[in-house]
Amino acid sequence: MTSKLWGGRFTEAAEQWVDEFGASISFDKELVEEDLAGSIAHVTMLSKCGIITEEEAETIRGGLKTLLKKAQHGELEYEVDYEDIHLNLEKLLTDEVGPVGGKLHTARSRNDQVATDIHLYMKKQVSSFIQQINQLQTVLVSLAEEHVETILPGYTHLQRAQPVSFAHHLMAYFWMFQRDKERLTDSLKRIDLCPLGAGALAGTTFPIDRTYTAQLLGFGDIYQNSLDAVSDRDFLVEFCSNASLVMMHLSRFCEELILWSSQEFQFVEISDSFATGSSMMPQKKNPDMAELIRGKTGRVYGSLISLLTVLKGLPLAYNKDMQEDKEPLFDAVTTLRGSLSIFTGMLESLTVRKENMQKAVSSDFSNATELADYLVSKGIPFRESHEIVGKLVLNCIQKNIFLLDLPFEEYLAASPCFEQDVFEVLQAKTVVSRRNSAGGTGFEAVRAALETAKTKI
Ligand code: ARG
Repeated sequence: MTSKLWGGRFTEAAEQWVDEFGASISFDKELVEEDLAGSIAHVTMLSKCGIITEEEAETIRGGLKTLLKKAQHGELEYEVDYEDIHLNLEKLLTDEVGPVGGKLHTARSRNDQVATDIHLYMKKQVSSFIQQINQLQTVLVSLAEEHVETILPGYTHLQRAQPVSFAHHLMAYFWMFQRDKERLTDSLKRIDLCPLGAGALAGTTFPIDRTYTAQLLGFGDIYQNSLDAVSDRDFLVEFCSNASLVMMHLSRFCEELILWSSQEFQFVEISDSFATGSSMMPQKKNPDMAELIRGKTGRVYGSLISLLTVLKGLPLAYNKDMQEDKEPLFDAVTTLRGSLSIFTGMLESLTVRKENMQKAVSSDFSNATELADYLVSKGIPFRESHEIVGKLVLNCIQKNIFLLDLPFEEYLAASPCFEQDVFEVLQAKTVVSRRNSAGGTGFEAVRAALETAKTKI
């Protein structure tokens, strides 16, 4: 049996299987670098405030730095008996520098320690997610720039509605990701707070300098209340919520890529490197990566619900339940990281089948609104023109043709306001290019929007 670092008031040791149930080292070892950084700052503060000597601090810091090097080379060995990353590192430190290592934990608890670790961890992760989203937006913009005048059907209710520029469709996602990026950026100000020095829950009698520790760790500010400092996990819930939104946006985009790459649409082709074959059907090329991202979205939602549920009903301050924050969090981080990079790669290597998009808009009724607007421009009230065009569409459906195939006489019979230019008006390209209201799909409006978008990346 290993003697526990908190073993003083215990007369009996827990059995191994009980220890294993309580331990978090199998997953919180992920926080090793953050934990060591927090300790280095803490020990530096302790000596600056005269709580330990400069010499003791130097020895402890040296030991912590050695551990950091070993951690980076994967040379640290952890034991379940030491429960979590904090106690494992304290044990390893004492092995390294002797009993003076025991001074490190002065004026500190694992409660403020673990909170500090996850704040440091989240700061790093969120900043790197912002970068990743930026990268995806860059790819979106360059794809959109190639396709301002590529036209495809726009849908509502998954029924052909009005033709739109492909660039415009792509850029709709750009703005979703822009909001995601802004939400993550905003969340940084709540992450950028240092809990260290809150102690177990009540602060400490030692003359510590929390602001100094926070500065050493690069935090913008400190928590104002020690109870809140050790028991706040709002920022993790917030992250999982932000991550859920990013995943939802990726998932919707994936759904479109899956539809568009089907035999029925053939609007795009996913590159071979992001698709897989079937073990049985030789002709198959499946959009597996897009499907997986769509599926993994559920995991991230799961993390969000896990965290909310773990926290619900917890009394102040720290409770062991909170150890359950890490696995869902790490899982959300890993899933989001992978999904964003796979998706970006998939988009970068996507083949766009413009001709098929064009073919689609030439054989549908997505120009019907334009026809109604045409009559309005000739002075007919919209309700009336809607009715006239509805009848023309019905007429076409009965003849199994489209509006462009209908002879001019039929137009004249429907309304004397029609003129020969109606056939020009009905071209998909005309339909799209004319919608230049701000934020519309007209080519000019799309080009202007692209310029605005570029200022965001
Ligand atoms: N392993 C714990 C966690 O992840 C660290 C904090 C433990 N604190 C305590 N007093 N048991 O939450």
